[in-house]
Amino acid sequence: MEKFGLLEYPYKESLSKKVFNEYFKKANIDAVYEDIVIVPDNFDGEINKYIESYDGLNVTVPFKEKVIKHVEPVEEAQEINAVNCIFNNKGYNTDWKGFYNSLKTSVLQEPILLVGAGGASKSIIYALYKMGIKKLFLVNRTVEKAEKLRKIFMSKIDIKIESFDHLRSIIHSSKTFINATSIGMFGESFNLEVKDFTNLSLIYDIVYNNTPLQKIAKENNIKCIDGRTFWYHQAVENLKIWDIYKPETFDEAFKSFSRGE
Ligand code: ATR
Repeated sequence: MEKFGLLEYPYKESLSKKVFNEYFKKANIDAVYEDIVIVPDNFDGEINKYIESYDGLNVTVPFKEKVIKHVEPVEEAQEINAVNCIFNNKGYNTDWKGFYNSLKTSVLQEPILLVGAGGASKSIIYALYKMGIKKLFLVNRTVEKAEKLRKIFMSKIDIKIESFDHLRSIIHSSKTFINATSIGMFGESFNLEVKDFTNLSLIYDIVYNNTPLQKIAKENNIKCIDGRTFWYHQAVENLKIWDIYKPETFDEAFKSFSRGE
């Protein structure tokens, strides 16, 4: 039996575990996908054991950067400075490709506002750069983290940092609003009113569950891409890397899971 897993801390039953196991069953692939919890202080000592004994791995918060020195990162993962997928000792970043592919059929209108400067934001900025975007507005609660991202991507894309306090006025002048923070994960809202969003043509919310932000988008007929769609597209890239991708069966597993079967 093949073994796949997600390196994480702290434990949270992942969407990956649910959907991939459903997929293996439907596709008759003799494999299992597990959530693997590593205590951060033990990470450097334990990681090689997992790389050696698993056929493929995913990596999530807080290990996406820490894992780089234990694998051979491909060029994109190196440029983003984050690895979220491992196969044969190589480190890949499928987040950027997932974001990129999730937008292929949509029209991305500028100006673009990205909120958040954590791990997910790095992959998103790289994807926007790959789409040919030359400039974006970046807002983050902690300005230093936004500044760090601006420097990392300086040669690729022009990042204008704006203050979190001015979020309302920046949204008013934006066409695309990307939430790459965890705001909404536990039902929290942005401290804004519905009318603040109505100039937007696209809201991209990376949070998996239904958030107040996604509700606003739906109620006001603003196109919305959510975290599940983002997850789906990065998941496809993982399966391709692990060489176990059967498109129709995966779509079926994803959909049946979404319906709660
Ligand atoms: P990920 O890898 O998913 O991006 P992360 O690296 O922990 O996760 O980043 C979380 C992002 O959500 C950060 O931009 C964080 O802002 P700070 O850099 O200021 O910490 C943002 N975030 C989380 N909770 C927030 C909140 N209540 N208000 C504003 N920003 C928040």
